[in-house]
Amino acid sequence: MVKQQELIYEGEAKQIYATDDPALAIIRYTDEATAYKGFKKGTIIGKGVVNNHVSSMAFAMLEENGIPTHFVRRLNERDALVRRAEIIPVNVVIRNVAAGSLLQRLGLTEGQVLRRPIIEYCYKSDSLSDPMINRDHIDALGLATPEEMDQIQALSRRINELLIPFFARYGVQLVDFRIEFGRCGGKIVLADEISPDSCRLWDSKTGEKMDKDRFRRDLDDVENGYQEILRRMTQPVADA
Ligand code: C5P
Repeated sequence: MVKQQELIYEGEAKQIYATDDPALAIIRYTDEATAYKGFKKGTIIGKGVVNNHVSSMAFAMLEENGIPTHFVRRLNERDALVRRAEIIPVNVVIRNVAAGSLLQRLGLTEGQVLRRPIIEYCYKSDSLSDPMINRDHIDALGLATPEEMDQIQALSRRINELLIPFFARYGVQLVDFRIEFGRCGGKIVLADEISPDSCRLWDSKTGEKMDKDRFRRDLDDVENGYQEILRRMTQPVADA
């Protein structure tokens, strides 16, 4: 049993604790929610529990399919045990369907299926509001090497190919999502989370939004969107 020690990082919706094993950390998922660079703040009751379950299931599935990740195991309702990694300050966004910031940027209609998945990179910087960058910027700024980016790009495409059918089993369409990578033991590993906070997830039949966009856009029933995802994922046979 690992023992939780001091808080080492506090993010918008999660806390990370050191443990008595220097190679391991505990992620605690909270109910805090922020949007629009922190201008909108709130609490979504039960969100941390949902995100921990969903993310743990997604990471376990990806590991089983050969994706190296930081995930070790889910510890309890809100906590997961992970390997400590040096996070690469690049957000990777993968899009299958037009939504969110892509609409205004490229003049697309929400829900338009893209001819092929699009990968975008953003520089993780609060003071610069996470600007979109390309692989030249990443190399020039020394954020990651071209070889590391080759791996990140190939892993991102494979993760998308695995996540689309994974969510589809539960009647959920994976519209787009954001992931992060880290360096751990000389390898690139998938880090952070995969949850309704970091993914756009729509009901496959009705197109209803079941993710953080309900909070961002002031839609009703924010809690139920999250709970419905977890309900479906923990009762796959009845609801598939
Ligand atoms: O807002 P945008 O359309 O660029 O977001 C693309 C995807 O990345 C969405 O699934 C959103 O939830 C996710 N995202 C995120 N954290 C950010 C920015 C975007 O999880 N800081």
